Amino acid sequence: MQLQNKKAIVTGASSGLGAALATALVQKGASVWGLARNEKRLIDLQQQLGNAFIPVCLDITDANAVTKWVQHTFNDNPAPDILINNAGIGAFGKIDTMSAAEWLGILQTNLIGMYHITSQLVPYMKAAQHAAHILNIGSIMGTVAKEEATAYCTSKFGVRGFSESLFKELRNHHIKVTCVNPGSIETPFFQHTGIETHAHMLQPAEVAELIIHLLETPDNLLVDEVTLRPLIPTKPQ
Ligand SMILES: NC(=O)c1ccc[n+]([C@@H]2O[C@H](COP(=O)([O-])OP(=O)(O)OC[C@H]3O[C@@H](n4cnc5c(N)ncnc54)[C@H](OP(=O)(O)O)[C@@H]3O)[C@@H](O)[C@H]2O)c1
Repeated sequence: MQLQNKKAIVTGASSGLGAALATALVQKGASVWGLARNEKRLIDLQQQLGNAFIPVCLDITDANAVTKWVQHTFNDNPAPDILINNAGIGAFGKIDTMSAAEWLGILQTNLIGMYHITSQLVPYMKAAQHAAHILNIGSIMGTVAKEEATAYCTSKFGVRGFSESLFKELRNHHIKVTCVNPGSIETPFFQHTGIETHAHMLQPAEVAELIIHLLETPDNLLVDEVTLRPLIPTKPQ
């Protein structure tokens, strides 16, 4: 897909990988609806990127708000060409010490939120009858589980199953579905986890560049899943 003049939605655009994706898409000539809860950070990003970036203050766990926004935005306008389901949260801890609210909140955001927005947008993408691409951000922790990460691993293993099933469901509608499973990325994701970030983690702009490449592949070429890792994962000396 050529990205010039295409319309994209990026969830979790206020920070980290989502902000890098929005930036890369705008640089390619696409316009981007950037969704997140923190309005100020979205407006700051719009000031950097200009009017091709449209800030949308939306909590993807709020099914009614998602439905309302999708209908309001696309009932009388062309369907988006690209949906990047990037919004996600992480928290780590033992199953008997993490609160149920925190555990379930991870599933609500990383998996159920992805369902809310995708299920609302797919009818518009199907009706448009042109090439479209849904790209879901999973994690390497959706491929190999780690201890004290039951909620996060459950959500990200779920994202992979969701993505594979959806790719089989939508391929005959010319809608690609790709699951991207990154290893550690140097973003604010780790702020409240006690995990220290460092320069040997993947960089958000590098991951965004790879995703741009996936979006630009020919319409009949699908990369259904990809895993990314830092080659040297340890903190620089
Ligand atoms: N960093 C890593 O090492 C790593 C590795 C593998 C995969 N990932 C995945 O990559 C994705 C992006 O994470 P990141 O590293 O860029 O983290 P980040 O900097 O913390 O960004 C997460 C984004 O998700 C948004 N978000 C969270 N809950 C939301 C909700 N309910 N509704 C709408 N937006 C919501 C946040 O915005 P608001 O707070 O403004 O809502 C923020 O923009 C996540 O899916 C994460 O699981 C990250």
